[in-house]
This record gives sequence, structure tokens and C-alpha cells, in this order.
Amino acid sequence: MARPFRLAALGDLHCREDEHGRFREVVKAVNDEAEGLVLCGDLTDRGVVDEARTLAEALSLLRVPCAAVLGNHDFEAGQQREIVRILREAKVAVLDGEYAVFDKRLGVAGVKGFACGFDKGTLQAFGEPAVKAFVQEAVNEALKLEAALGQIDTPHRVVIMHYAPVAATTEGEVPELRPFLGTSRLATPVDAFGAQAVFHGHAHHGTLEGRTPRGVPVYNVAMPLLRKAFDRRFRVIEIAPPEAEPFASEHTYASGPH
Ligand SMILES: [Fe+2]
Ligand SMILES: [Fe+2]
Repeated sequence: MARPFRLAALGDLHCREDEHGRFREVVKAVNDEAEGLVLCGDLTDRGVVDEARTLAEALSLLRVPCAAVLGNHDFEAGQQREIVRILREAKVAVLDGEYAVFDKRLGVAGVKGFACGFDKGTLQAFGEPAVKAFVQEAVNEALKLEAALGQIDTPHRVVIMHYAPVAATTEGEVPELRPFLGTSRLATPVDAFGAQAVFHGHAHHGTLEGRTPRGVPVYNVAMPLLRKAFDRRFRVIEIAPPEAEPFASEHTYASGPH
């Protein structure tokens, strides 16, 4: 049986161009404590290339593989393509409906995701073209995730996204805002194809853990939430193979000075 994989996760880094030291500390701690790193979007704060360069410089010191998805902030300035290029030069696998494999053992499928609401409150494609276009964006993200998950053949697999796939991990946010923080549409491919865990961000004031309808653990790793809950900047989860129970156990490690 494959041994568990120690995976570090965080989202919502909101890196500014002058924050070199902060993310070097995170990288140093991840190198010491984990076998891989996933970044769940909002990598930059205003979506500008200088912020991406600062983050890439820190990430280039990683000694473990790294995969990432973009978040809504990374689109703010229309420089997302350049941001992806800069991060890929630093050996970060930026995923948009693709997957990466860490150490030939852990498959990581990634999409940004989108909003659309949850469960019985999920927005439907009905009425005005603007509503249909909004829903279509969420449908497209779910289809991209389905395509990525359908191709992974590693014994361990996880999913990373920016938006939340379940309502539970947005609990704590302003109720009126929660439908804009994610959508149940993103949980459907996870449950159809199976995964050991889902990691997301975006809900800075949400809840640390939830589960999909079929019981896949969902971790909200938004950095502001981790700092509030643990006074730490990332979380390490041991991803065990699907045969083992429980299929994920948690350790949280300090990431140095804050
Ligand atoms: Fe964020
Ligand atoms: Fe966000």
C-alpha cells in the first residue's frame, strides 16, 4: 500500500510586492515539514505582475513540488496570463482544469472554480442572458474539474480550487455573501470521481472543515482563517491512500514568525 503523503496547503496569500520575507518563511517551513505544497488562489493581492514576481522569488526556494490555482484577485488587473507565466518559471504547476503529480504518488487536480450558491439555493440558468452567462462560468469550471479528475491514475488524489465546493466551509461569513463564495456544482465531479480531500480558499471568515455530500473532506485553507484559528500560515494534511481509514489525518505546523 502506498504510504501517506504529507501535503501542505494554503490559499489567499494576497502577496504584495514588498513581502519577500513573509513568504520565504512559509517556504522554509514547508521544506522542513511537507512533501508537497498546494496554493488555493488569490496568490496576489491586486493581480499585478510585481506581486507575482515577489511570490515566485520565494517559491523558487521550494525543495518540494508545488501546484496552484488562481483566485479572483489574480484576475483583477487583467494580468493573469503573465502571472501564470511568472509562476510557471518558478516551477509552480498552475492548474486550470489540468492535474499535476507529486513524487509519482499524489495526483492534484485544480480549477479556480466560481460562485453560484449551494444546495437548494444554487442559481439556475434561467431568464436573462447575464444570469445564464454567470451560471455557465460555474458549469464550465465544474466540467474542467471533471476532465482533470477523469485523467488522474495515482493512488492518492486531491482537488484544489479557490471557491468553496460546499456551504459548510463558508459558515461564519456574512449570510448574504455566501452564495458568491462558491457553489455545490464544484462538489459534483469530486463525488463522481472520488478524491481523498478538497482544499479551497476565498472564504477568509469561513469554517475550517466540511464534507461533500459523499463524505470527501473539504478544507478551507484561506490564510487569514488559518492565522485566526491556529496562528499559523499553512496546514499540513496527511493524505492516506483511499483504502485506508481515516483517509486524511491532520497536522498543523507553525510557519515561523508572523
Ligand atoms: Fe482572498
Ligand atoms: Fe478570493
